[in-house]
This record gives sequence, structure tokens and C-alpha cells, in this order.
Amino acid sequence: MAEFELDKEEAKSEIDRLREELRYHEYKYYVEDSPEIADSEYDEMMNRLIELEDKYPEFKSEDSPSARVGGSPIDAFEKVEHSQQMLSLDNAFNGEDLKDFASRVRKNLAVDINYDYIVEHKIDGLALIIRYENGSLELALTRGDGQVGENVTANVKTIAAIPLKLNKEIDIELRGEVYIPDDRFKELNEKRLDAGLEPFANPRNAAAGSIRQLDPKVAAERPLSFLAYDIINLADGEQIETHLDELELLEEIGFKVGWYQQESSVEKIIEICADWVEKEEELNYGIDGMVIKLNQLELRQELGSTSKAPRWAIAYKFPAQQKTTFVRDIIISIGRTGALTPTAMLEPVEVDGSTVSRATLHNEDEIRRKDVRIGDKVLIQKAGDIIPEVVKVIKDVRTGDEQEFVMPEACPACGSEVFRDPDEAVHRCLNVGCPAKLREKIIHFASRDAMNIDGLGPSIIDKLLEAELISDFGDLYNLEHEELAGLERLGDKSAENLLEALEKSKERSFDRVIYALGIRHVGSRTAGLITAEFSSIDELRAAEISDLSAINEVGEVIAESIVNFFASEENLEVVKKLAEAGINMSLEETGAEVEEIFAGMNFVLTGSLEGYTRNEAKGIIEDRGGRVTSAVSSKTDILVVGENPGSKLEQARENDVRILDETGFNNLLKEG
Ligand code: IVH
Repeated sequence: MAEFELDKEEAKSEIDRLREELRYHEYKYYVEDSPEIADSEYDEMMNRLIELEDKYPEFKSEDSPSARVGGSPIDAFEKVEHSQQMLSLDNAFNGEDLKDFASRVRKNLAVDINYDYIVEHKIDGLALIIRYENGSLELALTRGDGQVGENVTANVKTIAAIPLKLNKEIDIELRGEVYIPDDRFKELNEKRLDAGLEPFANPRNAAAGSIRQLDPKVAAERPLSFLAYDIINLADGEQIETHLDELELLEEIGFKVGWYQQESSVEKIIEICADWVEKEEELNYGIDGMVIKLNQLELRQELGSTSKAPRWAIAYKFPAQQKTTFVRDIIISIGRTGALTPTAMLEPVEVDGSTVSRATLHNEDEIRRKDVRIGDKVLIQKAGDIIPEVVKVIKDVRTGDEQEFVMPEACPACGSEVFRDPDEAVHRCLNVGCPAKLREKIIHFASRDAMNIDGLGPSIIDKLLEAELISDFGDLYNLEHEELAGLERLGDKSAENLLEALEKSKERSFDRVIYALGIRHVGSRTAGLITAEFSSIDELRAAEISDLSAINEVGEVIAESIVNFFASEENLEVVKKLAEAGINMSLEETGAEVEEIFAGMNFVLTGSLEGYTRNEAKGIIEDRGGRVTSAVSSKTDILVVGENPGSKLEQARENDVRILDETGFNNLLKEG
């Protein structure tokens, strides 16, 4: 049906009405958790708004809800200095630490002063600093190193729990945590698995990865949410005396704030913290502790801060979570080297916000040492991103029906005999043609630190093997569009993307290629060491055990494994296929001498970098006279931080170490 033409005024008033309604429903859905309309109705209104804004561009506005769908991609995040240093928090690990904190506060404040605390959840997400001018969202920054953050405004605008326009036309800068709700995280990972993508390790990583997407349309697809917990700057005119006032104002202007409670007795606060250790699972967002903040803002000023954290607040950290559950079965998985790893299949339990249904048992000796039997009640533990493990068996409740586990004598995948080297704890399948080994080898080849082939996850690899399109990873580069597009649930677009990703993987450096080959004992570090000495595949092939073991840190075992690898006709065949496909089979010589700009400086690396493997980054630093150590200490000069950094980041902050992300590191290289 042809639409009646609207005149300009009518269009404007419909646009205004749609914007207002969309804002109202976003608030109902994301902040109050009580939607009044169906998602499809929301989508319909949004589509109509976008249509009208396209037709009448003169009415486009930065703070229109249409910004939720995401703007144009950018090349890199701009660095922006924070209006003031973004401090971190000191930690308490038990009641005693909390009592110490409370007495420090008491001691530092004048006698006879009345004050209390606000106890809040410590949300396990990523900190964001958001600035509004005249009620409109102007800037959103990550915390970065506390001094300088990254401008992630375009992505933040896609988060429906963050108002683009406040209910009040005020200037305000606030801080909170961006996170992914647990239920939405599960859905997200299911979708990723279906699409052959690697699932995210946990909601925190997923949130952090999403906020750092260069394409806001990708961020818009991720179920990000936000909880506000702090006001950093507020233009005059608002009467704010306590933290409670702050939280109330945040709610009033359209934000969701987390759970909080006002309390003055430290004993009560300890009880509240202990309660939440138990109740944590009831929440739909992850918390890794509680934050206790002095309520009176004026008194906060009196206490001040150290260089890293305020003296008026403390974070109470939850202990690593342990749960009991039952072992339903013990199964064997086969790794790419043929190692048989026993895994306990568990009655699913929620630990640390995610469902745990398996735990590694490492090897036969571990099973014996812990005496784990099928049917046992066990205590399992999960700390952060670490694979869950069995801490101990609750033997008191054994009924006698539990069954001892026996390592199989034949490989469950191919039926060949399994061997246990007397010097090792592992059992191995030695059949070179074992399909389970092959599958794992291809998964390894495509993995992030190896050839980093986007979209080539386990489920697509299974399909390729099933359809007999490949019989080793060398065949990947001969795949054709029609073959791929014909695979179940792949289709034209995904086939095209996969071929593009394969093409792109041809740019990977020689040491990554060596790592990707999956030679036993050759991790990415060793691959870097050996390619520094043997800079082409032919040189490496010709190397003898003595040549290889002459390399510092390369022992006889590694050397022998490399020589054995190249002694196999089958492996040579795969290497040949890769070479023919145009994969890097030698180090690219730059020939240029580099200046020793890092002479005398100590570096530590954490997380994974986009542009370099660990070894490449290490090589670059060492070539310039710097040293790379594995632990952060007061002697560390610079911490280079990649994606998903570990605890080193926190340690660096504690030691006042200069922190650089990848862009910062690149700039340092460029500018010296
Ligand atoms: S207050 C100056 N409150 O924890 C104090 N932080 O180690 C500002 N966090 O980087 C922080 N929930 O990302 C505060 N309710 C909460 C929090 C919270 C999570 C994070 C925040 C910060 C880290 C502190």
C-alpha cells in the first residue's frame, strides 16, 4: 500500500513521538526489567524511526534511539585523558581485613563524627566512564591505565541500558560497569557455537571483547548492559552530600544501579559480605566481591587517596568458588598428540555464574591419587577462567556402588592399542591416522595463536572431515566455494568469509606456521626460538638433533621431536601442501638494524596481542635492547597488555608500573 506523504511537521512530530516511546520502553526493559511491549513491537517502532530519519535527514540527532543499531566502523580507538585519575580499589579477603579498614577510617576521622557505609556489589565487568553534556551522551571511555582511556562512545551508544539522553538536562560524568547478563551470555555462546565460533570463556571476557569492537554494529548485536555506581563530576545545582544521594540521582536520570545497603556496623557489613558469597548465584550478573564505601562525601575528602586507591573504600573479594556435585561418568578425550585425558562428567552445577558439567582429571595417576570413582560425590573448584577441577572426593557418603575407573587399553576413537610411557603419566594413542588426533590437530592449526583462521571452529572442522573435503590441514587451502556453501548450515556468505579468512592466514609469520604444525613439545615460544636460528623450512628440515639442541632452552627431547616430525613422509606431504598454497615458509628478512631504544628497560607481557605472538613481541623488545620477564615487580618498567589480560595487570597497577596497550606499544616503537 502506498504511504501517504507526510508533511515535514507531521514527520517531525512522528519522529519525536517514536523517540520518546522507544526511550520509555528501553527504560522499562533494560533498567526496570519490566517490559510492556513485545520485542517485535519495539523493532517495528525502531524501523519506522530509522525510515523517517533517512527520509528527513534534517531531523537526525546524535541522541536518537536509532543510534542503538551502531554507526560506521572505525580503524582504532582514540586515546583520551581522563578528567581525573581513575583510581582502583584496595582489597580485603576476610573479616579481619574489613575490620582493619574500618579502624583506619575511624582513626583518620575527627572524633565524634557520625558516618556510615554503603555496601554494594562488585560487578564483574568492565569499567566505563561516561560524560553527558546538557543531558546528552558525549563521551564514553574505558578505564585504560587510569590516566588515559579509550574512546568507545560509538559502541556504548548501542547499549540500551545507557540513556543517550538523560531525564534531566545536566552535565554529569559517571562511572559504572558494563557487563553481559548471565542468561543472555548463555544464549550468545550457544549462537557462537552454532556459527562455528569459539565460545567466550566467561561473561566478563565477552563484555570486554564486545566493547572493544571496531565495528559498532557488532557491539550492537552483543547483549551488553550497564550498572552505574559512581558520580565523578556533577555541574553545580544538584544537592549531593552522600553516596546514597548519588545512587538516587543516577536512578532518577535513567540508570540502573546494582543492589546496595546502608550500614554502620562493621560486624553487620561482614555478615552481608558472607551472605552474598552464598547468594551470588541468584543474580543475573556476575559479581566477584562487594565494595564498601564511606557514605559521606565530605569525609571522603578528608581521608583522600593513595596513588592507586581511595582510603574511603575497599573491595571485599570472594574466595574461589567450590561446590559439591556427583561424577556421572569418566570419559576420555584425545588430544592432538594422542594423549588420552580423563574428564569427569558431572551433574551440572552453577559455579561462579556459569554451569559446570565437566572437570579435568588430568591423568591416571591423578585419578588414583584423589581416588575419584564414577558415582562419587566430589568437591569441585573454579577460579576465574581456569578449567574446573576436582579438589577432593567426599568419601563419607560413599555407598559402595561407586565404580573405579580403568584406563582403556584401546583408543576410544580408532581402536588402536594405547601405550603408557613408563616415564610419563600420560597414555597415548600412537596411530598416526587416528581421526580424533586429526581433528584436534586441525583445531590447533586454525587456533588464534597459530594460523588464527576466523570462523574455522570445531563444528565446521567436523563437517569438513565428515564430508571428506579434507584429510589434513594442508587440504584447507584447496577448498572451493561450492563445496563449502553446500555444507549443512554454512551457506554462501559464511563460505566466502571462511575462504577470506584462509587467504588472510597466509600472512601469518613463519614461527606461527611452525607452531601451527603441532610438532610435539613445540609451543609458540619454542617455535620462536627455533625459527630465529633456522629461518626457513628447508633449513629446519635439514637440522640434526645436535644442531637443534644447541639452541638455548631447546633440549634433546624437543630436538628429537622436531627431527622425528620431519622424518615422517606424511608430515612432509602436509608441509608441501602448505608451501604450495603460499604459506610463509621462511622468516621475512627486514635487514634493517634497529636502535636500542629499550636498553636497560624491563618489560612484562600479558594477554594476547592482535599483531604479534608473544615471541614476536619479545623478539622486538629484545632486538631493541629491552628485557622481557614473566613476573611484574617494582623493577618492571612497562607492562604491555593485550586482550584478556591476567592478574599481572592488577599487579602492575599496584606497583605503579606504566601500562601500555597494543596501540601504545606500537606508538612507542614508532616514536622511540
Ligand atoms: S568503585 C575509586 N564500585 O572494581 C573507586 N567499583 O578494583 C571507584 N567495580 O575498576 C570504583 N563494581 O571497575 C566501584 N560497585 C562498584 C564496583 C566497582 C565493580 C570495579 C571497577 C573498578 C574495580 C576496582
